[in-house]
Amino acid sequence: MKIIMLGAPGAGKGTQAKQISSKYDIPHISTGDIFRANIKNGTELGKKAKGYMDKGALVPDELTCDLVMDRIKQEDCKNGFVLDGFPRTIPQAEALTAALEKIGEKMDFAINVDVPDENIVNRMSGRRACLECGATYHIVSIPPKKEGICDNCGSELVLRDDDKPETVQKRLDVYHEQTQPLIDYYDKQGILKTVDGTVPMEQVFADIVAILQ
Ligand code: AP5
Ligand code: MG
Repeated sequence: MKIIMLGAPGAGKGTQAKQISSKYDIPHISTGDIFRANIKNGTELGKKAKGYMDKGALVPDELTCDLVMDRIKQEDCKNGFVLDGFPRTIPQAEALTAALEKIGEKMDFAINVDVPDENIVNRMSGRRACLECGATYHIVSIPPKKEGICDNCGSELVLRDDDKPETVQKRLDVYHEQTQPLIDYYDKQGILKTVDGTVPMEQVFADIVAILQ
């Protein structure tokens, strides 16, 4: 099963993608997590990506597309994968469609997790992220067992550099301008499904599972 998670920053794409990945045993591919890991490890890619990310802008398509195309060719993706944060622009979506067409394949579902902008800023200021394993928490709705420490791997949790309220607003603007058109793009391909992302996360997941089954 090949799935795309669509939705605004903070809609819960990552939260849901992790659960889909574990239930259906397919890799979770988050371009944001890949970039953050590269920044943390000081790689060339990380150095290039950081400037864009900290401003709430998108990393250029040419740095993003090859990375994903290489990843989905790997052996563990042969039964499918869940893409989180990619594609994010029409050129990225076209590159993905073309790469899959070449091998006679196509995406199965594009799941749009719908959350209005008003809810997003609050969620983001409470989010804490583990840059080591990609786990996410929320200081009110899903706190870690020990404050500031990841339950999974014991690393320190951080407020992402791009989760400051002014950067979140910029990310929302970028989302509406460059990513929201993908809703139409996948609707036209006949694979778009929308779920209400404002309900508790267990309910969001149940709604997604009902679609995938
Ligand atoms: P990325 O890491 O993808 O960030 P994003 O799209 O802005 O989305 P987030 O990760 O912030 O939110 P999410 O939807 O995953 O929500 P989460 O599950 O954490 O990208 C970061 C940056 O990298 C981009 O700005 C860009 O610069 C660059 N980049 C990445 N991909 C790129 C690409 N393809 N092209 C170009 N540039 C790219 O949930 C958020 C919070 O809400 C959490 O605290 C969570 O616990 C809580 N929550 C989740 N669900 C619920 C619920 N149902 N109810 C209440 N709280 C909830
Ligand atoms: Mg995420």
